[in-house]
Amino acid sequence: MADDTTDTKSSNQMWGGRFASGPDAIMEEINASIGFDKKLFAQDIRGSIAHATMLAHQGIISTDDKDKIVHGLNTILSEIEGGNFEFSRQLEDIHMNVEARLATLIGPAAGRLHTARSRNDQVALDFRLWVKEELQKTEQMLTGLIAAFLDRAEEHAESVMPGFTHLQTAQPVTFGHHCMAYVEMFGRDRSRVRHAIEHLDESPIGAAALAGTGYPIDRHMTAKALGFREPTRNSIDTVSDRDFAIEFLSAAAIAGMHLSRLAEEIVIWSTPQFGFVRLSDAFSTGSSIMPQKKNPDAAELVRAKTGRINGSLVALLTIMKGLPLAYSKDMQEDKEQVFDAAESLELAIAAMTGMVRDMTVNTARMKAAAGSGYSTATDLADWLVREAGLPFRDAHHVTGRAVALAESKGCDLAELPLSDLQAIHADITDKVYDVLTVEASVASRKSFGGTAPSEVRKQIAFWRARN
Ligand code: ARG
Repeated sequence: MADDTTDTKSSNQMWGGRFASGPDAIMEEINASIGFDKKLFAQDIRGSIAHATMLAHQGIISTDDKDKIVHGLNTILSEIEGGNFEFSRQLEDIHMNVEARLATLIGPAAGRLHTARSRNDQVALDFRLWVKEELQKTEQMLTGLIAAFLDRAEEHAESVMPGFTHLQTAQPVTFGHHCMAYVEMFGRDRSRVRHAIEHLDESPIGAAALAGTGYPIDRHMTAKALGFREPTRNSIDTVSDRDFAIEFLSAAAIAGMHLSRLAEEIVIWSTPQFGFVRLSDAFSTGSSIMPQKKNPDAAELVRAKTGRINGSLVALLTIMKGLPLAYSKDMQEDKEQVFDAAESLELAIAAMTGMVRDMTVNTARMKAAAGSGYSTATDLADWLVREAGLPFRDAHHVTGRAVALAESKGCDLAELPLSDLQAIHADITDKVYDVLTVEASVASRKSFGGTAPSEVRKQIAFWRARN
């Protein structure tokens, strides 16, 4: 058709049927990152100011040019913050968008900013700064979540509930103890985040394209100005490395897995069948057709966000796994994964913190459930070991017979008459009833880290001091 032959930018005649635009436009679309890396504008400008200041300090550019550059960059910062900046896809990414605008604002001095650096170390710097801030925010948010659990644990240090294995009633525990299990989990997540900050805390700027530079730059100066502990030590590794992003994602994935387990427990606990907790209206929704329903949507969405975070981790690991050193354009695909995971993680932590703080705990339901399902059977076996001198294996067998009898009578262990128990084992006395209540069961488990209220209070004190 005439149009195809006259317009050199129209889509390729052999394979371009489904493309509305020509090769240049497709190249632009696949190449440009401005759509997402504009999020790095503040880091890009901070990095450039530190770089220009160092260049002037080292006599590589004049103080006059440096002043113009810094002034221009600050103007651009307020333009972007004020929503008065036009991002251009032709200029590919945030680095070139800022530099092009700088040239318009200050003229030829703008061209001196890129002395002794490359976009390879520039993007590594911007992204590291962004991930560092995100890790710091995550650390704080986890601290808030831990604090919420500590408050609930203190409130419920004595509230008994069934402890589960295989989601079958196992032994009575306290709700405070269960809350403290999450404190341990989120405490480990926070340590992982802190380690990630420590690993990341090296400044990439000055590695240049990959080989360093012949200009007499001072990388220690820029590292210090940007709040890094020290500069990175190998210029090739510096522009090749995205471990900091992968460590963020893996810490996020593990924390997400914990958040998802918590979300799942809340989904289960808030069913009418369990009735252990009631979610506040703020974190649930009604059904458009069934008026009685209160759905734990926020918890379900936290469970789902975990899937997205895992996806981002696997995506970035896969992007990086076959890349030769040093920089390859594949690495541009790192940012969306991290941005998306960060957003999901922030939302998930905030939602779970709110849910934990707001939910109403039904201690009566928990206590009733704690006593059902022969949850104190182990206590009977332990009593037989302690008081009647039976080997644990024999005590286990005797207890099994008592459970079977109670089951056939449709009653609890504590409701079996002494004569029934003595028919199973002659050495059982009425003292045994002292250990068959859930409170006695819980109070007896005083081993370090056990569920006895006295132990739980010690663990709460330990974490209060660290939080
Ligand atoms: N937009 C690029 C990225 O995000 C910046 C680095 C480009 N470097 C290059 N040599 N093409 O990775």
